[in-house]
Amino acid sequence: MDRPIQIAPSLLTADFARLGDEVATMEAAGADRIHWDVMDGCFVPNLTFGPDVVASTRAHTSLPFDVHLMVVDPDPMIGRWVEAGCGSVTLHVEACTHLHRALGAIAELGARAGVALNPATPAGHIEHVLDVVDLVLVMSVNPGFGGQRYLASMEPKIAQIAELVARSGRDIEIAVDGGISAETIHGAWAAGAETFVSGSALYRHPDGAATAIRELRDRCSERELIPL
Ligand code: DX5
Ligand code: ZN
Repeated sequence: MDRPIQIAPSLLTADFARLGDEVATMEAAGADRIHWDVMDGCFVPNLTFGPDVVASTRAHTSLPFDVHLMVVDPDPMIGRWVEAGCGSVTLHVEACTHLHRALGAIAELGARAGVALNPATPAGHIEHVLDVVDLVLVMSVNPGFGGQRYLASMEPKIAQIAELVARSGRDIEIAVDGGISAETIHGAWAAGAETFVSGSALYRHPDGAATAIRELRDRCSERELIPL
């Protein structure tokens, strides 16, 4: 499915004391949605936001909220994230005993169902849920922290997933998350990704987030890449 690329800022590098302003700033900078990284200190060695924090920023932007759940046993709280204003809920294949059922539960609540794969997880692990997912999130870092180095070794997996998705005949979005910057996005895009989560590259750009987002979009084309 040929659709415009989507840039989804991750708030992991944001100023947590001003999250409402931060989501509004990213909307003004031209982002397409907001990526909430939820960590439970168990699935990954870090702790971040609960649904009430996410809900508290809902009125500060009209951008869609995607929640990326890096938690063990996400099922019991799925409804809380939808209530908090998340239009898509992404679970990790490594965290769900009953993945097919959990993804179905997200869809029943009217939200988009996403599945994420850690770097070591083969593409084939999602083959049997392609009938219930709307989004596949390929981790291009080992989850838990922002500012890590992009794993170009994930590009063949993105291409494999693009093939599985094409064969399924369903409209499933392919996203990539971790180390995405103007230097790395082209490889992920060329492999078949269309949605790009980016955190530190947006927050640390010397000319600000709007320029960073524009540069990311510019790199997603066949046009000859001018070295940065
Ligand atoms: C890592 C998170 C990512 C991360 C991206 O576990 O899932 O969303 O915040 O940040 P950068 O772009 O800095 O790698
Ligand atoms: Zn994430």
